[in-house]
Amino acid sequence: MPDPRPIGVFDSGVGGITVLRAIKDLLPAENLIYLGDTARLPYGTKSADTVVRYASQAARKLIAQDVKLLVIACNTASAVATSALAGQFAPVPVIGVVEPGAEAAVAASQTGNIAVIATEGTVRGEAYPRAINARAPTAKIVQASATVFVALAEEGWTSTAVTREVARAYLAPLFSGPEKPDTLVLGCTHFPVLLDAIRAELPAGVAIVDSASTTAQAVAAALKDGSAAPANQKGAVRFIATDGRERFARVGRIFFGNEIDADAVELTDL
Ligand code: DGL
Repeated sequence: MPDPRPIGVFDSGVGGITVLRAIKDLLPAENLIYLGDTARLPYGTKSADTVVRYASQAARKLIAQDVKLLVIACNTASAVATSALAGQFAPVPVIGVVEPGAEAAVAASQTGNIAVIATEGTVRGEAYPRAINARAPTAKIVQASATVFVALAEEGWTSTAVTREVARAYLAPLFSGPEKPDTLVLGCTHFPVLLDAIRAELPAGVAIVDSASTTAQAVAAALKDGSAAPANQKGAVRFIATDGRERFARVGRIFFGNEIDADAVELTDL
């Protein structure tokens, strides 16, 4: 039976809208609810215990909206909370972004030398090296935490001179070793909006991957059991934030690629 219930997607802020957008593009009939925990951003510098607690509260809010599937559109939260949330909210399927991101990296790399930039929490937990090596045991991974990128993305500074400068500082060390990576993973859902600045500071020929489209494909695969929306339904998107309706709409539109009506952004407490 087709299932018109919404899919719930959450992140610490507006970054996960890159994933929401990929899901909307691939599955236009699905109703989507996006929750940005803007009051408590960033997650990337917090301890794993705190991130698990925040992620669980965000997920609970979405489950209360009767979502049929939950997407953790935050690498930091996916890295530490995917299995906890899957256990807590079963039978609702929970999809994180790290496994799809690793899948994309392995598919893109010819040499097996892969660079990952992510938040401090994601890098510290080694989630990407584990997920990549589970698929490609001989792959060699170098990582860097790129905390300032989150602030630049949330500020909407996608391609300023400062963004280029920061990109150079983060990326140059990753590509200076003897085994040059041929693939860069954007291991944080905030980073795809900085693509131009990042590309400008990379050696030629390096492939850049993120988890947005592979996560959307994982969502599509999970709905193949018959729980996809009725094909004639035109999906709607609802936005919920924990702080700053106007700011959420103003910066979120850069990630969404469309206007977001600030008055329609719902505010909530978790
Ligand atoms: N967008 C989040 C991620 O993918 C993290 C940003 C933050 O530090 O809150 O990891």
